[in-house]
Amino acid sequence: MGEMANEFPDAMVTGVDMSPVFPTTIIPTNCRFLQHNIVLQPLPFPDNTFDYVHQRLLVAGLKPCDWVYVVQELERVTKPGGWIELVEVDGHGGNNGPLTQQLWTWVELTLKGRGINVNIGTQPGLNNLMEQAGLVNIKHEVFNLPTGLHGGKIGTLLKENEQAFWVAMTPTVIHGTGIDVQEYEDTIIASAAEVEVYKSYHTFYSACGQKRICPLPPLQSPDFGESSPVSPIPAPLSPRLTFARSNIK
Ligand SMILES: C[S@@+](CC[C@H](N)C(=O)[O-])C[C@H]1O[C@@H](n2cnc3c(N)ncnc32)[C@H](O)[C@@H]1O
Repeated sequence: MGEMANEFPDAMVTGVDMSPVFPTTIIPTNCRFLQHNIVLQPLPFPDNTFDYVHQRLLVAGLKPCDWVYVVQELERVTKPGGWIELVEVDGHGGNNGPLTQQLWTWVELTLKGRGINVNIGTQPGLNNLMEQAGLVNIKHEVFNLPTGLHGGKIGTLLKENEQAFWVAMTPTVIHGTGIDVQEYEDTIIASAAEVEVYKSYHTFYSACGQKRICPLPPLQSPDFGESSPVSPIPAPLSPRLTFARSNIK
């Protein structure tokens, strides 16, 4: 969540049932990690704390009603004039072969059974959620990233990520759909070649929005040339560049 000020401790646990999966080897000096379930408790930061807040790939963790609350909560901890950036992927991709399509159908069915909407990028849309939270100057972008060797380094990483996601979802999908575990695992293996043949891709949604600058207090003297007391905060980098940079390891 952007850069945290030094007054926050190095590590905090403020929520339950979240896995403590943090980097252990490469940790920037201005970075702190926090284990927190945003649905169960408000973020443990005062109002107006951060210049920039980034949230990515929560689509499989949040229900539609959670989304409205979460974006409002991100808005609360952002400084007036600061920026929020959301990046999500849809739950089915495109140019799928039959096996890849089958996997996404199983995953979507499983998540739907848990009340999760995998199409939050379009229903209602990240920009719509930002509008509901009162953000302004919202910019929304939709782009496809290839899955597989046909997409170069990014495509190769995305394919690895996708395969790892399906494997990690094994117990959840088996429980959610009742399918045979061997069939599920065989489908994952076979899909690895299929995405290259069909040139599959994923659709990503990104949105940036700015928190309103509070209205100026009443002027004490009729000096209408005075500028805003809040320094303008420059817009973040293009969402596309931010995504690429943070996914190339
Ligand atoms: C697909 S991972 C994305 C991780 C990281 N944001 C990224 O883009 O690489 C989904 C993350 O959402 C987190 N998550 C899911 N539900 C959450 C909740 N209610 N509160 C906080 N984090 C949650 C999970 O712990 C997991 O780390």
